[in-house]
Amino acid sequence: MKKIKIIIILSVIGMLSISSCKNNEKQESEATEIDEVSGDEIFRPNFHFTPKENWMNDPNGMFYLNGTYHLFFQYYPEGNVWGPMHWGHATSKDMVTWEELPIALEPDELGYIFSGSAVVDVDNTSGFGDGTTPPVVAIFTYHDPKGEAEGRIDYQSQAIAYSLDEGKTWTKYEANPVIANPDIKDFRDPKVIWDEQHQQWLMALATVDRNLFYGSPNLKDWELLSEFGESTGAHDGVWECPDFFPMQVENSEEIKWVLIQSLNPGGYNGGSGTQYFVGDFDGKEFKVDPSMENLPEKHDHWIDYGKDNYAGVTWSNIPESDGRKLFMGWMSNWLYAQEVPTETWRSAMTIARELSLKKVDDTYRIFSMPAEELDIYKENIFQKEKLLVSSSAEIASEAEKDLSRAELKLKIPNLKQTNYEFSLSNSEGDNLKFGYNHSEKQFYINREESGITDFNDEFAGTVSYAPRTSTSETLSVLMILDRTSIELFYDDGATLMTEIFFPKKPYTSFSVKSEGDFELKNIEINQFNFENSDTDGKN
Ligand code: FRU
Repeated sequence: MKKIKIIIILSVIGMLSISSCKNNEKQESEATEIDEVSGDEIFRPNFHFTPKENWMNDPNGMFYLNGTYHLFFQYYPEGNVWGPMHWGHATSKDMVTWEELPIALEPDELGYIFSGSAVVDVDNTSGFGDGTTPPVVAIFTYHDPKGEAEGRIDYQSQAIAYSLDEGKTWTKYEANPVIANPDIKDFRDPKVIWDEQHQQWLMALATVDRNLFYGSPNLKDWELLSEFGESTGAHDGVWECPDFFPMQVENSEEIKWVLIQSLNPGGYNGGSGTQYFVGDFDGKEFKVDPSMENLPEKHDHWIDYGKDNYAGVTWSNIPESDGRKLFMGWMSNWLYAQEVPTETWRSAMTIARELSLKKVDDTYRIFSMPAEELDIYKENIFQKEKLLVSSSAEIASEAEKDLSRAELKLKIPNLKQTNYEFSLSNSEGDNLKFGYNHSEKQFYINREESGITDFNDEFAGTVSYAPRTSTSETLSVLMILDRTSIELFYDDGATLMTEIFFPKKPYTSFSVKSEGDFELKNIEINQFNFENSDTDGKN
């Protein structure tokens, strides 16, 4: 469906309307661009990756090479629900604007192509190289639908393919699978890194309730090293899509190993979710930090507490000079992903995020912030150092710029033992409520009135919660807003909540309320402008 851009001349009352702060009321005529779109396109994100058509789930095989970030993804090119899986492919120079390329891997007689990873085999350990180009090697799960239909349990195995043209075309290894199924029903989603410290290729592989680690000298021959996880963390579902890598603890020389572990169902707020563990790895075994041994089901080590960030993993081959750990997840939840109200395409990815590891009190925590590349597109449209609010304030009004491609930031200093509620709304009466309850030390998102919700009872049936781990008396809030998603980064990335929504019209108003008088600091609204980017930011 094509987008028709229309320019509407709107009479705007000031740049900003704040009910408790009525200065600055300048009547002026301003041209505001509104993207008029129809059909499914009203829900298509402005800057989150979506496939042009059909079904997508997990991000796969993310690698960086020669200035390009590659993203592959679980893809069914013939329908808008999950089906025989392929690897779709997209590339980007900045992880913000994406170009979708032809399908990279297709199912064959060994089965569907399930989730996995890709590495650049710089030293040609696999021998797939031609002497000049280092091969890119993809490691994925074959899911054999015939075996499944026959009621067998050994229908998932691990396989490899290589590319000598930077991921455009792939050749499957003739001796696949490289890891046969050892009679484990859920045996999938290999994530491989080059383990520099122990000079080996290292694979994390998810099985029902634990993670298996394998080592290899050449990506073809794999040896089982150890397993981890049976007795700690959330287990109300199947463990899937792991990621395992070393990270330097911020402000120290200490190196710790991080295991990112998705599971479905059993997420913090139901359905799909991603927990993590931090510890030490000696080249064979992962020993989790004592603070994360025997974690209960409802613990507080989750990458994101919102309902819509699943199967996320990190990019491989990021140059050492960059050194970032860059993460992206699937912005949906298996509870309702196949029923969301889009017909021609389904699902988006989160924005790319930079992970950091911090020692906080007696434990280690992963923090996430938006990858800085998004800043390239920022245009500041509002800034205010300090605002005194008496019970409520509308911060971006009806006539305000487009809140469906924006970053909003603010701080609440001197938190009181009460509720702080934010709301995004439109003229249709749709509103998304979210905020912080300081007496309960909990963040929340309530999608009940957010727009179209009746496609599945699980979508808005319950409020999502997140425990606050920071003890600061100032709360910092950063929101990344697209047409159909919010990504909330609280306390400088300590607690995240990502959720999707389907308003009948884009949200145009942002407001805040609490009890009595309270102060907001450092309010900033930035709009993302993709007009000058190569791909126009529209995926
Ligand atoms: C996670 C997952 C993976 C699997 C893939 C199939 O969302 O279930 O475990 O490889 O999706 O599409």
